[in-house]
Parts: sequence; structure tokens; C-alpha cells
Amino acid sequence: MAGLKNEIQRRRTFAIISHPDAGKTTLTEKFLLYGGAINTAGSVKGKATSRHAVSDWMEIEKQRGISVTSSVLQFSYQGYCINLLDTPGHQDFSEDTYRTLMAADSAVMVIDASKGVEAQTKKLFKVCLLRDIPVFTFINKMDLDANDPFDLMDEIERELGIRTCPVNWPVGSGKQFQGVYDRNTKMITTFRAVSTGGQKEAETSVIKAEESRGRIGDAFYEQLMEDIELLDGACEEFDMEKVSRGKLSPVFFGSALTNFGVETFLDHFLQMTTPPLPRISDEGLIDPFSEDFSAFVFKIQANMNKNHRDRIAFIRICSGKFDAGMEVYHVQGERKLKLSQPQQLMAQDRRIVEEAYAGDIIGVFDPGMFSIGDTFCAANRKFAFEGIPTFAPEHFARIRQVDTMKRKQFVKGVNQIAQEGAIQIFQEINSGMEEIIVGVVGVLQFDVLKFRLEHEYGCEIRMENLPYEHIRWVKDRTMDITKLKGVSDVKKVRDLKGNPLLLFSNIWSVQMVLDRNEGLELLEFDRS
Ligand code: G4P
Repeated sequence: MAGLKNEIQRRRTFAIISHPDAGKTTLTEKFLLYGGAINTAGSVKGKATSRHAVSDWMEIEKQRGISVTSSVLQFSYQGYCINLLDTPGHQDFSEDTYRTLMAADSAVMVIDASKGVEAQTKKLFKVCLLRDIPVFTFINKMDLDANDPFDLMDEIERELGIRTCPVNWPVGSGKQFQGVYDRNTKMITTFRAVSTGGQKEAETSVIKAEESRGRIGDAFYEQLMEDIELLDGACEEFDMEKVSRGKLSPVFFGSALTNFGVETFLDHFLQMTTPPLPRISDEGLIDPFSEDFSAFVFKIQANMNKNHRDRIAFIRICSGKFDAGMEVYHVQGERKLKLSQPQQLMAQDRRIVEEAYAGDIIGVFDPGMFSIGDTFCAANRKFAFEGIPTFAPEHFARIRQVDTMKRKQFVKGVNQIAQEGAIQIFQEINSGMEEIIVGVVGVLQFDVLKFRLEHEYGCEIRMENLPYEHIRWVKDRTMDITKLKGVSDVKKVRDLKGNPLLLFSNIWSVQMVLDRNEGLELLEFDRS
């Protein structure tokens, strides 16, 4: 029991969120270097280079040199066992990214210091808000010209609606970047960029702030003293309770590329985050330290290995310990079974795991019976974790098969891919299955759909993009949406479960329809 408690106590499970190019890959790489999980910089790169991303394995990913799906990187650092949930880096990321955030206990938000809060940071942050998980901010690229740090704080607070509390504070930026001041120790870690073996690095030393005038110069010294006074007077005080409720984000400044401020950030982050937290189920909160195993499925990946045509369900363990060969209860399937081929994934490597603990993510063989959101618990228990929301697609297309003889394959393929959660499918009210409307979060999912229908189901399709961008679930599922007023340019559809939905081409018409139909309630996420 003590062993179980210790193992769970040292688990930290988090995801990194950012807008593309803010430096997520670079920061991940530095984390892995600290953890000894990789030896050389560049091993994690996912761009169109000769180096393959650690998490690249699907054919489409290899062809394009991008990362479509998420995977998990596990490594140890200072006694902690870290599960870093890797999320697709491409601009057209998919719902996978959102679902992956459901498996994380906290998030690291990387912001480019010269760009501030960008579009995808906002979207991903919204998903973190759904569960109010702690969000830690790393303001990156301080070795390049940056925006004013007070403006950056302001922007985060205004755009994301979270309070900020800087743990350290930059002195200058770009060519003039002097280093960061630690508000707790009142010491400055100085920065000087050097190049060793083609790699940019930082040369650092730690000095007392009050004795730093000679080192950083009069102007920066005066500025720093002024900033400190302002920060101490006006900025939100550090409050761990607010951090853990996702109301206050500790902020750090640094430069991932030169490995400056990364170790400090990681150390603070690990201390400030908690081991796995209790999760909500229909029997109340489930204690992660309980001896009984429980987990939920947050992602299903089909055909990872062409030779096997297999499906893997990624599960997040929420309590207790998993032992290979143990019998568990699959709540939604209402049957006991053994989770076979339990594995951890890293790049092409799959490692069979014998045991895993609350906080860990493992892949298990899916015989085609599991769905996203399903719960597994110890054989003697029967509870279900709160479901994973269906996220609003932002792109829609009508699809048809090219060869009418391939009707069966087409319907089977589209339905299976939708069941995995790789796309969402809708049907126009009062129409048959001839035409299917596909909704995706990122347009890349369309390519994946086309590719998979061709390669796995032998079925070519034609796709016609539709002008809709916003989707709303109708809260009252029994409502007859054909009777709504002012909806001439709104498409009325049903999802796989028969729920009524409306598709809008612009955000204003959402409000207009609400205004014209008293009592109508529309939802942005579906939690059924
Ligand atoms: P992403 O995963 O968030 O998309 O970003 P990634 O780490 O790939 O970083 C995007 C670009 O920004 C990369 O340059 C990377 O080297 C650079 N970068 C990341 N952190 C820092 C930093 O702290 N300072 C500076 N100056 N640059 C940083 P690239 O030219 O696109 O790629 P590469 O050719 O360097 O690999």
C-alpha cells in the first residue's frame, strides 16, 4: 500500500498548449533532456526535416512531416514520474488535442513574447477552463525582442480571463536581454547567449539584485527596481489555492532555445502541481489513491500498425494500480474483460507495460468495443466517469462516394471513423444517408478522412466544403427545430445520437436566432 501511495504521489500528468511556433517542441525537448529521456537536441522535431518527430508514426504524418495525433512521453526527473501529453503541433490540429487535455491534470501554456496571446492559445485555454485545471505560463523567446512584460500580463488577463502572478521577471529582451529576477529569492540569473557546437545556449550566473547595477547597467537597474515596486504593489499575490483552481496562472520568463529559465520553470512547476486529483464519476469523486483500479478512454487510434489493422484505446488511469493480465469491468460494455497488450508509446516504439499507476496513460488493444469516454474499473465496482465533451467542429463538408457500387464500404468507413472520434458526422433533417455532412475541428481531419477511406476501405470520395463555421447543440433535445424562426441561412442537422443541432455561417446569426426564438437555449459543447 505504501508502494502504491508513493508511486501515485510522484506522478505528474500535464499537457503543453501553445499556438504553433511559440516553442512547444523546443520546450518539450529541453524537458526530455533534463529527464534523460533523449540524448540529443532535435530528436523531438516534428517539422518537414530529415529528423522524425518522436510522436510521428501514421503514414500521413510521415508523408507530410507533421504530427497529427497525440502521444505520451513518460520520463523521470528528480524523483517525479512525469507523463507529458504531447498534442498535435500542426495548425490544423484536431479534436485529439482537446480530448488529450481531458486526460491532463494541469497545463503549461507557452507564449511567444513578441506575439502574446494567439488564436490557438485562446481555443486551447478555453478547453482547460472546462475543468478549471491549473495553467502555468512560460513566456518564451526572451532572447528575441519582446513585448513589454506588463503588457503581456495584461493581455493574458484580458484575453483569457485568468489572473497572473509572475514568479520571475525579465530584465530587457532580445540583444539587450540581461536575465530574469526571481521575486522570491530576489536574485537575478543573468543571461548571455553563446553558441556551442552549432547549438545556441545561455551562459548564466546568479547575483543579488541589489548588487546587480554594475553587471546590468544603470538603466536596466533603475527599470528593474521600478518594475519590482509596481509588481509588489499592484500584482496579484501568489495563492496556491487559486492556482490549483485554475484562477491564477504563475508566470515565468525564459528562452527555451537557449535553455534559459527552463530548469527553474520545471522545478517550480513540479512543486506547485499536485499528484493526480480525484475525478468526478456517477458515484461521486473517485480517490486516485484508492487501491481499486479505474480509468477512462480519451482517445482511440485505428490502424497504427498496417500489418495488424488494430485499434488502440488510450486510457488515463484515474485510481489505483494497473497490472497486466488483471480483470477489469468495462462499464459501458457491461462486461468483465482483460485489457490486452497494455503498452506505452513513444514514436514507433511500443513498450509492453506490466504495471501502471493513477496518473499514467497507457494504450490497450481495442477489439472494436470501446468508445471515447468509456470507463474501466476494478472487477468488483461499477461506476462511470463523467463523459468527455463533444467539441464544436469549425469546418463542415458534404461527402459522397465516387463509385456508387462502394456504398457499403463508404457507410461502414465513415461510421467507424466517426465512432473513433476522428470526425463528427451529421445528417440533414429529413434526408437519408446518401449525403453525409462531416464536421471537424481542424481541416487536416478532412485529409485524414479522405486518406483513410481510400487506403483502409478502398473508397474514393468527393468532398464539397460548406460555408458553416459555428455549431450549436439545441439544449432541449425534444424541440422541433423545423419550427424555429429566422433560420433561412442556418442548416438544421442531427448527430449520430439523433440530437438536433444548428449550423451557422457566422457568429452574429447565432445571436439573431436566439433573439428571435424565445426560450431557445444553445450549447457550444455537448456533454451527453
Ligand atoms: P512549436 O512546437 O510551438 O510549433 O514551436 P517550435 O518549438 O518548433 O519553435 C518554433 C521556432 O521557434 C523554431 O525555429 C525554434 O527554434 C524557435 N524557438 C523556440 N524557442 C525559442 C527561443 O527561446 N528563442 C528563439 N530565438 N527561438 C526559439 P525554426 O526556425 O522554425 O525551426 P528550427 O529550424 O530552429 O528547427
